Amino acid sequence: MKTLHSIAEIQSVVAACKAEGKKVGFVPTMGNLHGGHLTLVEKAKELCDVVVVSIYVNPLQFGPNEDYDSYPRTMEQDQELLIAHGVDLLYTAQTTEIYPEGSEHHTHVSVEVLDGMHCGKSRPGFFTGIATVVTKLFNIVRPDVAVFGEKDFQQITIIRKMVKDMCMPVEIIGAAIAREETGLAKSSRNGYLTNEERTVIAPTLYQCLTSAREAILNGERDFDLLRRDAFAKMAQAGFKPDYFNICSTETLLTAAADDQSLVILAAGYLGKARLIDNITIEL
Ligand code: PAJ
Repeated sequence: MKTLHSIAEIQSVVAACKAEGKKVGFVPTMGNLHGGHLTLVEKAKELCDVVVVSIYVNPLQFGPNEDYDSYPRTMEQDQELLIAHGVDLLYTAQTTEIYPEGSEHHTHVSVEVLDGMHCGKSRPGFFTGIATVVTKLFNIVRPDVAVFGEKDFQQITIIRKMVKDMCMPVEIIGAAIAREETGLAKSSRNGYLTNEERTVIAPTLYQCLTSAREAILNGERDFDLLRRDAFAKMAQAGFKPDYFNICSTETLLTAAADDQSLVILAAGYLGKARLIDNITIEL
């Protein structure tokens, strides 16, 4: 695996691959890699000849009181994992090149209305930060295919819309959520949890999602009741619930009783972490 730090280097190596007729797959990440990221890598390998992973903790998607400074940075360990999984190229973007005049003075990409809902309500500017850096990474790497996790359902929905609206020449592929044995979705932020939070309390989030899904499959259509039940269960377990929204998968707006394709998006604060998860329901 080649590790490349500059825009010029990654562009010239990818251009050489493309000149040989190779299909380039891209997995953007913020590092501290775990099984979830590796599912994306496997998917990219299946579909492409060359796999590029980027590691960049993007300051623009962190709010002023969020965990930008303490976000885990584990470059050496990440490199070993990527080598073991047969990744060809690692691009470690540098803030001096990504935001040369500072992130505030950079052109911003906003995917309205989607970016103001759910996580966007609790984290203003979060999705603009993501859409901006992903646009830039796409323009730098110029992949044929990019793989994103369904764990961040609102994120992949926003990226898909951005790519479609802006005619970006890249195919977006989703990869299923990788979970721990307890059902907890794998996440770099799980590392902020104590052992008890991680093994006993955090899995409640997924349990709330699966029981609401079960109820809907059994005919329950009082979505507000399901939301209140889930909030009560989360709070009882030790979470500070943020949202538990039953939505149409298309629009991410509150689902109507006759919608056939649903997603439940949920988030809550636990100890030092804010955890998110989701589950889809096809009726
Ligand atoms: P990060 O949180 O590092 O996640 C990188 C990719 O891994 C995302 O597409 C995310 O959805 C996926 N992922 C994380 N946990 C997963 C899990 N348990 N199962 C499946 N996929 C999972 O998401 C970001 O970084 C950033 O916002 C980024 C897109 C890189 C822009 O900065």
